[in-house]
Amino acid sequence: MKMHIMPIRRNLKFHVPDEKVLNWHSWGPTVTQFFNTLSLFFPEGERFFINSVRKYRDRIDDPELQEAVRAFIGQEAMHGREHEDYNKKMVEAGLPVDTQEAIVSKLLDVISKYTPNALQLSATVALEHLTAILADILLREPDLIDDSDESYQRLWHWHALEETEHKAVAFDVWTAVMGKGVGAYGLRCFGLGLATVVFWGLVIPVFLEVLREQGKLTDWKGWQKFFHYTFGDIGMLRKQIGNYLDYFRPGFHPWDHDNRELLLQIDSFLAEQEAAASA
Ligand SMILES: [Fe+2]
Ligand SMILES: [Fe+2]
Repeated sequence: MKMHIMPIRRNLKFHVPDEKVLNWHSWGPTVTQFFNTLSLFFPEGERFFINSVRKYRDRIDDPELQEAVRAFIGQEAMHGREHEDYNKKMVEAGLPVDTQEAIVSKLLDVISKYTPNALQLSATVALEHLTAILADILLREPDLIDDSDESYQRLWHWHALEETEHKAVAFDVWTAVMGKGVGAYGLRCFGLGLATVVFWGLVIPVFLEVLREQGKLTDWKGWQKFFHYTFGDIGMLRKQIGNYLDYFRPGFHPWDHDNRELLLQIDSFLAEQEAAASA
């Protein structure tokens, strides 16, 4: 097994401004709430990823993969911390999203306790694929988030960079412990099907609820922009359908989609982050 990139844990703080939380994205409140809804799922989701990988940690012989797992856990823990702070600001701004977060937390607890570890790992590998393809488009097309509030923009940029850096770690753990047989392939594909249904099955109702709370559910102009952004010309989701489906190819590996060049943004990103922190 070949590790292509070794992730690095970075302890960064973003202090996203509270007063902007409901409308920080340059595309307006509906797109803002879409990103905010994704943010709501991260702390609990990332805790779930960490736990499902941890359950297999002692079965990994390759020291390089062990090190990558350690960095993966460190990165996801930092993401969770920063998104928790971000999500707290949504609650303070009057969105009762803590209720939704509690439901997600309960659901993931039940899955963690009562489903087979292999299924949890396959769901994690699949969700890492979803986050990796979303990260790819954010880094590839910076205008997807340009001209938005700087702190929110930097937080998402950082998260996208690190999701790219560690995009193969859970997958490599999967291959190391499950092998490359037909059974492993079948369960990996099933994991993506299941993860997709559960993920959108939770994200869509929460997104609608958040918009309803904000009185934006019937903002048709907002919806028009949102569809333009996700599936229209801009096509944040549309442009990744091919990469999404590639996961079902038997020999698939996350680095087959070689987007290492996007990681070259890390140095300038860190310089910007440092300048912002000392400003
Ligand atoms: Fe993450
Ligand atoms: Fe991740």
